Amino acid sequence: LLAAVTLVACGSKKDAYESIKENKKLVVAVSPDYAPFEFKTLVDGKDQVVGSDIKLAQAIADELGVKLEVSSMSFDNVLTSLQTGKADLAIAGISATEERKEVFDFSIPYYENKISFLIRKTDLEKYKDLDSLASANIAAQKGTVPESMVKEQLPKAQLTSLTNMGEAVNELQSGKVDAVHMDEPVALSYATKNSDLAVATVSLTMKEGEENAVAIKKGNSDLKEVVDKVIQKLKDDGTYQTYLEKAAKLTEVEQ
Ligand code: ARG
Repeated sequence: LLAAVTLVACGSKKDAYESIKENKKLVVAVSPDYAPFEFKTLVDGKDQVVGSDIKLAQAIADELGVKLEVSSMSFDNVLTSLQTGKADLAIAGISATEERKEVFDFSIPYYENKISFLIRKTDLEKYKDLDSLASANIAAQKGTVPESMVKEQLPKAQLTSLTNMGEAVNELQSGKVDAVHMDEPVALSYATKNSDLAVATVSLTMKEGEENAVAIKKGNSDLKEVVDKVIQKLKDDGTYQTYLEKAAKLTEVEQ
């Protein structure tokens, strides 16, 4: 099997970089339920996918000199779409974990964040330490790091795994779950938009080096080089920070 895989990898098939250039288009897989990274909003009366991940994708497409095509799907399909060749890159607030690094290449990190619990504001006093959360009902998005952290660190909690982040937040607001575990900027964004929600002061332990990065199909070093170069520049000159701030503003006017 290994021989067959190697054969395909080294065969006459073009790598991602070459086909992007040839087709003049970069297809980026996203999961737009994760503001401020990526979310849907109305722009001139039309539903559009926006956010700092989309800005980053656009900057990479510009550097390559090709058109950007944003392909929306649920998060549990984002990484698979790289393997099946449906997308060239995946940018979806993806944590570059050791496990994922075995299967995909990752760019240099573009954002270092924490992972937090979104709870009802009235529960701020109730969920102040891990003991209080130990047997709570906790929702997380399917296939994510926040989901596996709950499994590992709160084994007695009742875990509800949902495909869509918005659905998980609805369950929290209606009292079906007590907390939703997600990337902190996203939790903050939901708390800003919904006065009944807040970010808990207690959090689980994150593994080192699991920053958000762009996922690339393994072995496309030419493409990785371009992506890394763009990220380095956007971070160095402060542009990435402005992407995030603008995206946060956009979420405030959204509803
Ligand atoms: N950072 C987490 C992970 O990689 C969650 C990402 C969820 N992204 C999304 N667009 N819904 O597992």
